[in-house]
Amino acid sequence: MFYTMQYPSLNALFNSLFKSLFKSSLNSLFKYGSLFSLRSLSSLAAAFFISMFISLFVITTAQAQIQKIPSPAPDEKKSSELINAQSGEILFRKKCAVCHGSEGAGGVGIPLNLHDFLSTASDRYLEQTIKTGRPGRIMPAFTTLSDEQIQNIIDYIRSWKSEIKVPEYSQAPILGDIKKGQEIYDSICINCHREKGIGGKGTGVTFSRPRDAEIIAPAIGNPAFLASASDHMIKRIIMTGRESTPMVSAMSMGLKETDVDNVVSYLRSLADIDTTNQTELKTRDDAVLVFESSYSIEETIENLKQAALGYNFRYIREQTLDQGFVDKEQESNEQYLIYFCNFTFLNQALSVDPRIGMFLPFRATIVKKDDTVFVMTVNPDYLCSLFNNDELKQGCDFMSEKYEAMLEESTL
Ligand code: HEC
Ligand code: HEC
Repeated sequence: MFYTMQYPSLNALFNSLFKSLFKSSLNSLFKYGSLFSLRSLSSLAAAFFISMFISLFVITTAQAQIQKIPSPAPDEKKSSELINAQSGEILFRKKCAVCHGSEGAGGVGIPLNLHDFLSTASDRYLEQTIKTGRPGRIMPAFTTLSDEQIQNIIDYIRSWKSEIKVPEYSQAPILGDIKKGQEIYDSICINCHREKGIGGKGTGVTFSRPRDAEIIAPAIGNPAFLASASDHMIKRIIMTGRESTPMVSAMSMGLKETDVDNVVSYLRSLADIDTTNQTELKTRDDAVLVFESSYSIEETIENLKQAALGYNFRYIREQTLDQGFVDKEQESNEQYLIYFCNFTFLNQALSVDPRIGMFLPFRATIVKKDDTVFVMTVNPDYLCSLFNNDELKQGCDFMSEKYEAMLEESTL
């Protein structure tokens, strides 16, 4: 019933997220081009990124040690399928393992190596799921992978349990009674998959930090799920259930085959409704919030501490930006980092997606450049859009407002 959470290639995640963050932060900083000279701009950006780099570097190098991709033995003769599965394995490790675990046991994403999953999921379903993702449910759409690469990933996933016969389904619709299906859904399935199949709270195997947390029920009303799965496949999943997960078989739920047909028709009827309210990701342009202060650097720091208290943040610590890089006497008193934390929000956000720890707690950079003091922080709203999760997005919108208000209060 329970799974152990894994973070097999955290370094891959950090790398990819960091790359996009780095790119867009530079873009957004360059928008200030009319305000600053290019030289001061680049040092401003550099100041911001040095702090990000230190923590990421430590983590990525540590992870890189742990995670080495095994290279194929050169003298072994392989059938073409095996070779495909091997390049699929490399792709899987790069693109999927960070969420689904290197052996598919699940993590932020749900398990992919279960017998009942592999014996009910068609190749078409896997292909469509990889291509379209699950909007608003973290699972990204891999639009840049070629059909061949996707097939290789599928071959690799199949190689975990090569004895299983790959199922194929008719694309014919199942014509059940939608109303009766809804009644069944609202009395049984809703308890885990929530109203209209929006899916369980949180994601994948993990809910918050507990290492043995239950698997989160996927969003089965999600338009991308319904577009990927045929009626007959959904029926088979419900009939079979998934052993060793909370998803039990129809029989165990006390359902007859006609009940299942009705539920399938109800789920299909949800395809027209946008349950994600996030068809396109709404983001603010700026990855970094930058405010110009009308006070001295010391006053600005004091103001920020006061403002943060007013917004229920606890002051953690401050340091010069170059602390640890240079001798104590040489530290610049024109560049500071200051840390605050709102523990309630931190815990809530971590329970939705542990990767949020990348940019929490709240960290502001205060720098003096050409006699002007600037306060900068990462824009949570922007970063959250990279996570593709509606629930997180709401929290981050809220956080961005607070960050902006705090920076404004301390600089005006
Ligand atoms: C950022 C995290 C993340 C990454 C990266 C990711 N997934 Fe997912 N994946 C998820 C989550 C979360 C779900 C469950 C969606 C839900 O809760 O509705 C999921 C669901 C799936 C499903 C549906 C499983 C089922 O039971 O029907 C498949 C298949 C899948 N992912 C394959 C992949 C593959 C292959 C890759 C790499 C190419 C990949 N995923 C990368 C997070 C991720
Ligand atoms: C006790 C909680 C629970 C109940 C009740 C439940 N499910 Fe599930 N369901 C899950 C979980 C958890 C999974 C994911 C299992 C996994 O890891 O593959 C799941 C998976 C599924 C899937 C596969 C989705 C995908 O992305 O692969 C379908 C379809 C589904 N459930 C339909 C139903 C229907 C219809 C009902 C009601 C008749 C129902 N479930 C009742 C917890 C539940």
